[in-house]
Amino acid sequence: MSKKLFAFVIGGTGMLEGVCQWLVEEGYHVYVVHRKPESFKSMQEKSKKPNQLHSLTVDYHDTQALKGKVREVIDQHGGCPDLIVSWIHNSAPLALSTILKEVETRIEPWKLIHVQGSSSFFVKENTTVPEACEYRRVYLGFVLEDGSSRWLTHDEISNGVIKVIKRNIPEAIIGTLKPWSMRPH
Ligand SMILES: NC(=O)c1ccc[n+]([C@@H]2O[C@H](COP(=O)([O-])OP(=O)(O)OC[C@H]3O[C@@H](n4cnc5c(N)ncnc54)[C@H](OP(=O)(O)O)[C@@H]3O)[C@@H](O)[C@H]2O)c1
Repeated sequence: MSKKLFAFVIGGTGMLEGVCQWLVEEGYHVYVVHRKPESFKSMQEKSKKPNQLHSLTVDYHDTQALKGKVREVIDQHGGCPDLIVSWIHNSAPLALSTILKEVETRIEPWKLIHVQGSSSFFVKENTTVPEACEYRRVYLGFVLEDGSSRWLTHDEISNGVIKVIKRNIPEAIIGTLKPWSMRPH
């Protein structure tokens, strides 16, 4: 019997909902890290394969709780995820490393899609990842339109992340970051 593909999507009930819905259609079991039950329920109702969407309810600022929940899912599956898509606010600087620590025993290659906000592009932080991890970075930009600018829509963000996964792109900007002075306020 082939192993079930399995992913974590952190922040998956928000702008990455489209990524979760696409992943389940691709055959993944997706664990969606979030806090509010309503948004998860509504995305499950829309899903073509609701049984493959799983709720991982935790506040990612709570390091111990996050570690416990991630470990629980890994134990249930008898292995670490094949893919992690991460959108974590800067207010939780320990959250991603906490999750990565739990998956460092995986030997087979796996992918991390690290989604970051526009301003992170100018910082270029160095993310330490486990040896088997294929690191992919996605910066969220903005859209220039008719002489003005706007932030990306949820669909644009999800479709951009899906493209990075499908084409295995190492680093991408969704929309643009130039000229920076034209960013929406
Ligand atoms: N450059 C850009 O274009 C850009 C960049 C950033 C954001 N944005 C836009 O700004 C909007 C707001 O951003 P947002 O970050 O609120 O995005 P969001 O993706 O719509 O929502 C945040 C996601 O993270 C989860 N989350 C938030 N805090 C959490 C916590 N402490 N623990 C666990 N899960 C948590 C939320 O679920 P729960 O609420 O259930 O916890 C939700 O799934 C987005 O909708 C996006 O369109 C645009």
